[in-house]
Amino acid sequence: MGEDLLLMIPGPTVVPSRITRAMSAPILPHRGKEFSQMFLDQMERLKMVFRTKNEVYVLCGSGTAAMEASISNSVTEGDKVLCLINGKFSERFAEIAESFKANVIKLEFEWGDQVDVGVVRRTLYDNPDIKVVTMVFNETSTGVRNPVEEVGELVSDTEAILVVDTISALGGDVFETDLWNVDICVSGSQKCFALPPGLAFISVSDKAWRVIEGNDSMAYYLDLKNYRKDKAHAPYTPPVTLVYGLRESLDMLDEEGLENRWERHKELANIAREGLTELGFELLPLSEEICSNTVTAVKVPEGFDVSQFKRILRERYNIEIAGGQSHLTNKIFRVGHMGVITERDLYATLVCIELAMEEM
Ligand SMILES: Cc1ncc(COP(=O)(O)O)c(C=O)c1O
Repeated sequence: MGEDLLLMIPGPTVVPSRITRAMSAPILPHRGKEFSQMFLDQMERLKMVFRTKNEVYVLCGSGTAAMEASISNSVTEGDKVLCLINGKFSERFAEIAESFKANVIKLEFEWGDQVDVGVVRRTLYDNPDIKVVTMVFNETSTGVRNPVEEVGELVSDTEAILVVDTISALGGDVFETDLWNVDICVSGSQKCFALPPGLAFISVSDKAWRVIEGNDSMAYYLDLKNYRKDKAHAPYTPPVTLVYGLRESLDMLDEEGLENRWERHKELANIAREGLTELGFELLPLSEEICSNTVTAVKVPEGFDVSQFKRILRERYNIEIAGGQSHLTNKIFRVGHMGVITERDLYATLVCIELAMEEM
């Protein structure tokens, strides 16, 4: 089932056989010395990908688990949380904060546009009691890259902490946790790391730890203080197999080099944008400068049936692409080009997209 399916969706992405093989090793006891050391080593190596001196923790769960941990650990009922929203995933932060009964200020921007730094500046000025600011670096639902560096500079001058979701970009696009003043950065395994879903990563700055320590948290499974106590031994059974995969994924990343990876993703994004616009599609992001380097979203003309289009690509060509979410359903489609995707995969996808269009 799905043996040769080429996943050109924005995650989960293709898992190379090297990683699958690594994951087939026998299970080590999770409290034993060998596994604990390996687990610790991978968390240390992740710092290089996050570009941080802060501790990085590996959680068991999908990316949303780390999003939830960032909120549940730092927010209690009534706390003011500023959520910068320009797509499905940035909206999720607001939903999580609301579920923990925070006093949420939603700054909403057009889906396809970036977060407006000027509006953020004014809101922070008007609300000096904001405790947490949330944003998504690479808004997967729209293919837009947000100005984290600029927002980080603003937030660093306040008492608030900045929480950033880099789930669909970390390891594939330039991201600088420390230089950009990101206090809590969250990511996941099934995108640029080319791992199966199931691991979430989270880095925590000193400023964020001070907030977490002073917070009356409602978290239990994801209470970060417990993960910090004894880093080598996660409080609950870690997914041993996925940690083997993570080691292999980080080996592959080392072999390629992080900067080369960023460059490869940038080139793929250029090919995707050029190819799709040549086929007559219009980019959803308002300008090329704000486009993501890991996922490309394009509008479809009136009457274009995205479901049928996706079905042809899947059934005839064994290629999976993604449609739009929420109000963008049947208005756009998205092509993911992250992880171990190659130029060949992308060119093949573009040719098959053209063939599917002809068939329609
Ligand atoms: C930017 C972003 N945030 C969060 C998520 C949610 O991650 P998960 O489905 O792993 O919980 C995704 C998944 O596509 C994403 O792209």
